[in-house]
Amino acid sequence: MQNREQWGSRLGFILAASGSAVGLGNIWKFPHMAGENGGGAFTFVYLICILVVGLPIVIAEFVIGRKTQLSPVGAFETIAPKSNWKWVGMLGVASAFVILSFYGVVGGWTLKYTLISLTGGFNELAGNPELSGKLFTNFISGSLAPILWQVIFMAITIVVIIQGVKGGIEKWTKVMMPAILIILIMLMIRGLTLPNGMQAIDFLFKPKFDDLTASSIVLALGHSFFTLSLGMGTMITYGSYLRNDQNLLSSALWIIFLDTVIALMAGVAIFATVFAMGANPGEGAGLIFVVLPTIFPEIAGGAIWGTLFFFLLFMAALTSAISILEVITAYFIDEKGWSRQKATIIFGSVITGVGALCSLSMGTYNITALAGMSFFDVLDYLSSKYMLPIGGMLTGVFVLVRWGIPNFISEMVVGMKNPKVNATFVRILFLVSATVVGFILINEIIATITGTPIIG
Ligand code: PHE
Repeated sequence: MQNREQWGSRLGFILAASGSAVGLGNIWKFPHMAGENGGGAFTFVYLICILVVGLPIVIAEFVIGRKTQLSPVGAFETIAPKSNWKWVGMLGVASAFVILSFYGVVGGWTLKYTLISLTGGFNELAGNPELSGKLFTNFISGSLAPILWQVIFMAITIVVIIQGVKGGIEKWTKVMMPAILIILIMLMIRGLTLPNGMQAIDFLFKPKFDDLTASSIVLALGHSFFTLSLGMGTMITYGSYLRNDQNLLSSALWIIFLDTVIALMAGVAIFATVFAMGANPGEGAGLIFVVLPTIFPEIAGGAIWGTLFFFLLFMAALTSAISILEVITAYFIDEKGWSRQKATIIFGSVITGVGALCSLSMGTYNITALAGMSFFDVLDYLSSKYMLPIGGMLTGVFVLVRWGIPNFISEMVVGMKNPKVNATFVRILFLVSATVVGFILINEIIATITGTPIIG
């Protein structure tokens, strides 16, 4: 396509793609998963999963996008015309709908908590997890307030996407990613210099293999897709705005590196604070919104540190949310010929509406209670346990059996200076990645049906 939008620079692309990867998954989910699963042992498995399962799929998505210059549905259709592979692209668009619906709700929470901290609202919570828990539950189960914040978060996301690839996504992520890194480094140093803060390093990096259970392996695998934004065509879409002059292998390695380092730094910053104040690292999902607000007021300048932390979380959520909305916008531009503005406003609003239902489902209006889960939980569960792994696995299978490793490699090496790629090695990588994810999926399905997984 002649006038397809393009990234302005290689750095812009790398920051936008790592902005997509770095999100609530890194700063909210990773630390609490590590906290509940023995720390070091979990980190160790997570790192292996990212490299073995994540890397091949990141590269595959970039290569498919750059080659076809199209978002997922058109991309699969171009390489495999008149086949069913375009449904993998459709699944991606559907996943984007599902994920952004609940992601926007949590995005709203981050804004609200930034404001609470800024106005000294954590002070009364000092050392009182019970009160903090109550405040949090009251807020998220309310009808009006969480929806208001979600609408604001989604409106910002929509504004960025309307501004386009270079003028919106790239411009905003170029400011927010460095800001995220700087704030995180400050928070980490603050945490580590608190008494006992250094215990965090031991906790996260010293693997105690006794703690390693099959279920933490399964968890780490699933999370590696979510954290790298894989399996729904985000990276295909971002790759489609690239010209042919970029080394995709090194770009992919940069993105994985940044995503991993930021998750680990967030872990260190959070656990250092937790240990310094003698709190429990295994608190689970409430670690961030319930435990941290009780700790910040106890450290010097706590209101500032708290505000910085939640603002960092907001920026990380925003750079991910825009990448999810872009998948949907790009689909309607590429396949239906809509204008960017029309696609973004219409579907951004529809998703905000579904998200509002999600938010309501945590309060008195418990809309769907499938298997005891709220609508919010159902969307989270569906996307991270099924939709993303299925999408990612099929992307790997597509490269292996439909496109073919030789075709894939000849496209991948475009833009590389001295390409030395061993086809057998690449084939094995894709085989292992697709098989491992396939196994995890089957395991999950069996667990859902029979109540007992093969492993985990
Ligand atoms: N990677 C993002 C995170 O870690 C979430 C995400 C998933 C973004 C899928 C885009 C697509 O929070």
